[in-house]
Amino acid sequence: MRSHLTVDPSGLTDAVIGESGISRAELDGYAAAAAAAVTRTLERRGSGEIGFLDLPDDRATARACRDYARDLPAEVDTMVVLGIGGSSLGPRALYSALARPFDVLRPRAPGMPRRLFFPDNVDPVTMAGLLEVVDPARTVWNVVTKSGGTAETAAQLLVVEEWLAQRIGAERARRHIVATTDPARGALRKTAEARGWASFAVPPNVGGRFSVLSPVGLLPAAVAGLDVAGLLDGARAMRDRCLSTDLADNPALRLATLLHAHHADRGRPIVVVMSYVDGLFDVADWFRQLWAESLGKERATDGRVVHVGPTPVAARGATDQHSQLQLYVEGPRDKVVLFLTARERGAEVTIPASELAASQPDYAYLAGKGMGELLDAELRGTMGSLVGRKRPVGLLELARVDAAAVGELLMLLEAATAFAGPLYGVDPYDQPGVEEAKRLAYAALGREGYR
Ligand code: PA5
Repeated sequence: MRSHLTVDPSGLTDAVIGESGISRAELDGYAAAAAAAVTRTLERRGSGEIGFLDLPDDRATARACRDYARDLPAEVDTMVVLGIGGSSLGPRALYSALARPFDVLRPRAPGMPRRLFFPDNVDPVTMAGLLEVVDPARTVWNVVTKSGGTAETAAQLLVVEEWLAQRIGAERARRHIVATTDPARGALRKTAEARGWASFAVPPNVGGRFSVLSPVGLLPAAVAGLDVAGLLDGARAMRDRCLSTDLADNPALRLATLLHAHHADRGRPIVVVMSYVDGLFDVADWFRQLWAESLGKERATDGRVVHVGPTPVAARGATDQHSQLQLYVEGPRDKVVLFLTARERGAEVTIPASELAASQPDYAYLAGKGMGELLDAELRGTMGSLVGRKRPVGLLELARVDAAAVGELLMLLEAATAFAGPLYGVDPYDQPGVEEAKRLAYAALGREGYR
């Protein structure tokens, strides 16, 4: 498959930003550690410990998701995804990237691809507001929790099940809930079986933040009519490019190693992902969790505990040019900025050469230009000013924002995170800090067995 994603890390190297950048010799110095990171990842894949690299091959699950979407009653026009963290950020990133803008507001004929909502949090104002606007007879609720017992998702489920039963009756409500969770373990699996809800399985060796290509992401994507097969094709093509132990051949390994070197050797722990495509901002937000939760860890070194980890930031161009850019350009030299963009934007809005444009010298230069042209010029300007100050930048450019390119992008970032784990000396697949916070919250709420 021809790649739909160009990964250009040259702005992270000395070839573009001089001594601020990582040199060939420095990168060569990481070659052995980088190769070991891939080898370790592939060993863990081979032993069945980690499964995200194999998700693009699971076409049966993709078919089951499409079948579920096809068989939904025609009057259902909405799916609400109840989940948090990896159980919400991945499907939301897919929907934002691949559905039409303002999809939730578009009128729907029976049986058309459904709109999706992601309440994500347990803010009661959001939940109460959502229950005011959705029609219980036209809505299915996709409860997503890998562990099955996360407090926020459990609370959402309990509220919704009761609300649905009161409005459409317990028997009908059964057909309006679908569970996505561990195949055997956890409260949600038991509940789904007891209630007879439709359900999908998250492979036990796929953690929340690596689960976007499992039914966690694929089911909502299929229900929204997105190209699930194309997404997996793109992810598989990128996965195959990311198995090499050679820095020159493996784009995810090169990216991970350069980002790690900027942190370890240049004191730049902050990775800003700045999207110049609105639809890809939620990919940046998804990456924020992936990079932070995978790499921010305590590590024991020589009998001492050290705290390691980079800090990801999601930003939007051009919006954040008027908010964050001053800091990136002139503030501390502690950041790397990765730009996300698309060569073909899929639409253009031409600024008219109107009488108003012609009459105002401050507007005239815009007349006849496209808004996409303006955004591209702003991207080039932002990169230019950063590079001019020897600040490291990378470019991830999709040929266009389609399923294959998004699949490639997601797999690139997942693989880079997996390889960054060993480079930082941490296990990228655990999250003891998150588990501890969950336990403390359970104890505070009086859950049995927690103190
Ligand atoms: O990546 C992770 O493991 C976490 O961020 C989880 O996605 C998040 O805590 C939600 O967990 P669960 O899917 O078990 O409800």
